[in-house]
Amino acid sequence: MIDHPISAPGIEHSLSRLRCIGCGAVHATVEQDFRCPDCRDLLEIFYPDWQNRGTMQTTAPDLEALKPLWQQRKTSRLAIDESGVWRFRELLPALHDWNAATTLCEGNTPVYELPSCARIAGVKQLYAKHQGMNPTGSFKDTGMTVAASFARQNGYRWVACASTGNTSASMAAYAARGGMRSLVLIPEGKVSWGKLSQALDYGAVTCQLRTDFDGCMRVLNEVVKRMPVCLLNSVNPYRIEGQKTGAIELLEQLDWQVPDHVIVPGGNLGNASALGKAFLELLELGLISRLPKLSVIQAEGANPLVRCIRERRGKKLIPVQAETMATALRIGNPASWRKAVRVLEATGGAVEQVSEIEIAQAKAEIGADGIGSEPASAVTLAGLKKLVKQRFIKIQETVVLILTGHLLKDPEFTLKFHRGDLFRGTEHEREAAVLASHQRAPIILDPNVDVIVKTLEQAEKNGPTK
Ligand code: F0G
Repeated sequence: MIDHPISAPGIEHSLSRLRCIGCGAVHATVEQDFRCPDCRDLLEIFYPDWQNRGTMQTTAPDLEALKPLWQQRKTSRLAIDESGVWRFRELLPALHDWNAATTLCEGNTPVYELPSCARIAGVKQLYAKHQGMNPTGSFKDTGMTVAASFARQNGYRWVACASTGNTSASMAAYAARGGMRSLVLIPEGKVSWGKLSQALDYGAVTCQLRTDFDGCMRVLNEVVKRMPVCLLNSVNPYRIEGQKTGAIELLEQLDWQVPDHVIVPGGNLGNASALGKAFLELLELGLISRLPKLSVIQAEGANPLVRCIRERRGKKLIPVQAETMATALRIGNPASWRKAVRVLEATGGAVEQVSEIEIAQAKAEIGADGIGSEPASAVTLAGLKKLVKQRFIKIQETVVLILTGHLLKDPEFTLKFHRGDLFRGTEHEREAAVLASHQRAPIILDPNVDVIVKTLEQAEKNGPTK
């Protein structure tokens, strides 16, 4: 059982409540599966006073003060101010003691311009918000600091998740920092070694199950009913609150100029839900005056949201058997699909799907701008190219890609790509010829100066990778 705090003493905070996204029931406590006891739908955190701003007893934040306050905290040495998540705590649920937050200085991730990707895609202003620059190398850390802090505040000794890799790496790190133990369920053979090794190093009990992500999730949902473990998947609404801050920080970095489009990869759909929630709340509070269109891109082989929107107008999601080399996105039955549909409708965003070849090519193109990312992140550029061709995105519009994971999460993909092995023996082998000009295999040579000079001259003649 998780107790949702009614109020916190002392420092500025907003009163928050847990509400079911289906039936609207408000709950003070919640069962370990984080579902509405009445209708089984997901819960979300909301801030009732934000609608009653200006009344006497409101806990709504003082809006004028917020932007300079958040900026000022960047120079503070307090751990909760150094965190790029807790720095925005007026828009988060309040802990009993802010200083008890379990933090690794998460958030604080850069926004980069992507000039050559912009040319390739056909837009003038293209940015990447690189959430892979978080402490464990993915955006999951921004949500995990909040969810782990609440798990700890509620006295949990164990936390658990099912994962395609990044959630488990992040959860294991935050559990270790918060003095809790962690249980990881991952699909055997389908998680990159970089991510698996992180979970091991941070001390998680790591179980590789002979099933896929959706199978791991099903098992875990039963485990949490039997054991006192806190579920840290993104059905946990505290995760969503933390992940919201990626959007707040992005706007701060853009001087509160709202971009026209934000593009995010879609797996379990927690991230799209979180970023969209942030934009809607910032609009509600008047901190921004319009919404960006938030679009979600999936891999063709793991496209349940695309099908839900195209075939069922967002009303019903039929699970698919997920298969893609972007292993982070191998999810056929995404938990947060209803939240994501709501965000798509509210912001006017699009859904699109991209092929394995398009993902591999886009990843190399982002790399050629000097920015590394894992394959799942590259679906954003591949999707942008399609949305520009469809004229959903116009040349003069400002676009931000959310890069979700670090290049070193999955070096095997990158090495195979450059060696030309990635699609060998697969149905995509012939199509993969288009990737040749992007590939740079390592060259094995004798330690001889003349040979190196010749290699350099040859490379100069060949020109840079496209
Ligand atoms: N990008 C990366 C690098 C991810 O690891 C994930 C999800 C996503 C995008 C999709 O985000 O699920 O919020 O829609 N990874 C999961 C995991 C589910 O277990 O690490 P989402």
